Amino acid sequence: MPAAALTSDAVEIAPGVHWVGALDPHLRSFDIILKTANGTSYNAYVVRGESGVAVIDTVKESYAGDFFRRLESVARYDEITTIVLNHLEPDHSGALPELLRRAPQARVYLSSRAQMMLKALLKPSGEKPPQYIPVTTGDEVDLGGRTLRFLHTPYLHWPDTQCTYLVEDGLLFSGDVFGCHFCDARLFNDAVGDFRFSFEYYYAHIMRPFREHVLDAVALIEPLELRTIAPAHGPILRHQPRDYLHRYRELATPRLHNEARSEKTLLVFYISAYGNTRHMAEALAAGAEAIGGVRVSLYDLEGGEAGVFTDLIEEADGLAFGSPTINADAVKPVWDVLSSLTTVNVKGKLGAAFGSYGWSGEAVRLIEDRLRGLKLRVPVEGLRIKLVPAADELAQCRALGEQLARHLTGRIEPREIDLAALA
Ligand code: FEO
Repeated sequence: MPAAALTSDAVEIAPGVHWVGALDPHLRSFDIILKTANGTSYNAYVVRGESGVAVIDTVKESYAGDFFRRLESVARYDEITTIVLNHLEPDHSGALPELLRRAPQARVYLSSRAQMMLKALLKPSGEKPPQYIPVTTGDEVDLGGRTLRFLHTPYLHWPDTQCTYLVEDGLLFSGDVFGCHFCDARLFNDAVGDFRFSFEYYYAHIMRPFREHVLDAVALIEPLELRTIAPAHGPILRHQPRDYLHRYRELATPRLHNEARSEKTLLVFYISAYGNTRHMAEALAAGAEAIGGVRVSLYDLEGGEAGVFTDLIEEADGLAFGSPTINADAVKPVWDVLSSLTTVNVKGKLGAAFGSYGWSGEAVRLIEDRLRGLKLRVPVEGLRIKLVPAADELAQCRALGEQLARHLTGRIEPREIDLAALA
């Protein structure tokens, strides 16, 4: 770690614009689930105009001392007219309560969703509440010769998130967007170590579940003149910043070539100890195939790892999982795939479960619960078959496949309602 990491200096990133964030080089996991081999940084910024000073975001509470030392080296608290909150997660809002105490005159600009969330984040203190101003795309703040313009970019990575563009300098304060957990006191992307793996890893875990929102944000940012992107984590992107924008577009764009683009896609995953669940999977797949309009793919999870299926799952229309029940549970390879789905958006896809069992058969219900928890549609009850499926039971599997295909293609047969039974 270069010696600069140990100083309390603010760093000028453009004339009158300073980085006043904090470095956390020893962090090894973030939000519990993300690995951070190189630690992280909590980037906050100060923008000086002729008639006001703006603070863009703060830092994690335990690093507030570093933040205030750097802030005080470039501005007095009574000069601060504007506080911008691009994102409320505590790694960026941790020092906010203290900043509001030190600069109570500042007006706070944030998205309308953030304003609602802030109430839960800042518990009532008895002090006079600050003046909150909800903003959205196109709203501006004039700092005197410098203009902050807001861009509404929700879900990147919380519903509250926005970006802030310093118009005259072509400088985008992007919040988590284009960020990564990579701590290097040299700060700028053309000076730090190679952080490509961290940029991609961060995208995959933080942004990927919201890729439609990523594409919306990219469309908002693309027309801007971009001289610098200043994210809330990791290197400041002053060298070829547009490359990172292009990479986001690539990453968020569907990446698989689907030869059967006009068809719906159904992925059938199974694992089988004695071939029984496999026979069920094959019959289900054959039933779905027979309906037409659905491209069916069959995968044995005994021969694959969860990660390789992520792209397929992200782009599929339907997912069926087959597992035997062992020790009252579905088996680990199935859970590995199901737990990996938190990094992709599966909401609204069709889901189904099936499996052979010996005496209790909990796996199917447990898989269905997980699918519903992930907000998949599970319109057809799963199929459990005791031990070896007989011919009539394989016909039930085939019928399940047919039903799934009909749901996928919108050709659901009308249910016959027995009016007499309703009476
Ligand atoms: Fe860096 Fe979503 O907080």
